[in-house]
Amino acid sequence: MSPDLPLNLADFEAAARERLSPQAWAYFSGAAADEHTLAANRSDWAAHRLLPRVLRPLSGSSTAINMGGLTLAHPIFLAPVACQRMAHPEGERATAMAAAAQGAGMILSSQSSVAVEAVAAAMAEPGAGPLWFQLYWQAQREATLALVRRAEAAGCQTLVLTVDAPVHGVRDRERRAGFEIPPGISAVHLAGLPPPPDSLTALLAAAPSWDDVAWLRQQTRLPLWLKGVLHADDARQAADSGCVDGLIISNHGGRTLDSTVSTAWALPRVAEALNGRLPLIVDGGIRRGTDVLKALALGAHAVAVGRPQVFALADDGAMGVARMLRLLRDEFAIALALCGCRSPDDVSRALLA
Ligand code: GLV
Repeated sequence: MSPDLPLNLADFEAAARERLSPQAWAYFSGAAADEHTLAANRSDWAAHRLLPRVLRPLSGSSTAINMGGLTLAHPIFLAPVACQRMAHPEGERATAMAAAAQGAGMILSSQSSVAVEAVAAAMAEPGAGPLWFQLYWQAQREATLALVRRAEAAGCQTLVLTVDAPVHGVRDRERRAGFEIPPGISAVHLAGLPPPPDSLTALLAAAPSWDDVAWLRQQTRLPLWLKGVLHADDARQAADSGCVDGLIISNHGGRTLDSTVSTAWALPRVAEALNGRLPLIVDGGIRRGTDVLKALALGAHAVAVGRPQVFALADDGAMGVARMLRLLRDEFAIALALCGCRSPDDVSRALLA
């Protein structure tokens, strides 16, 4: 193996820093304000200590999971990340090819720089994971519905409504770098839709509410997940509403409200409140196979990785993303075995000290 190939997810980050323009680096790696949440997402996974079991039977090991009726080769999804052509000319198409090759689910951003139809074509491979579509609520219901219909027609299997970003966070790093989406790259699904209101008052007036979630539920037969839930009461309300099929426990990678709780902190509280009523995915700071295992031990069914996918994409296109997924998946398989677990089903809270 070449000593230059990335050996872990941090290596991809270092490589991407060399390759990305300072503006794109600030956009992808940066977060809100003082980036306390960005740091806490990482450090709170690391702070959990594993208490492994030994001498357990390990033959027939597998990383496969079953989540809400869906069987997946492993519990790693690609989180939605906007405008990936800023990281590599092939953008989301390359990411999708890698996801397909590694059996990973991909949650395509509604701010994708490659059309969902092209991404779906790249995912149409035997053994590919599912393609889900992340939805940003648009100021007009008809515009939101246009995005839903396009995702449905392209064959996306689930809609993921982001609920933690009615307004852009305070992005100091982006502003300091003078970040703008470069010419020739755009959020292609939003072309032709009305632009977002330009005053904060109008933007907040158009922000989605629980009523809008109920409305959305009536518009589509696709499963509907919410992304960006941290509070156990919101999770309960989602389950009680009967409108929601799953939750992504997320603080938007620390990119919206700085100094929120980490997702490692929120996850066990939400899991306890829900007691299995909804499947849970968690994102934010997952960089190691042991982080994946800890997430499952704290009640997640699966995890999603955001920044590592664009860092790997910037480093080596589809090959880079495929390698990143393979590394994380292999690390997870090793962590499982070293904790005495034959499969994700064997992972429980008892593995945490
Ligand atoms: C978009 O969702 C972003 O976080 O920049």
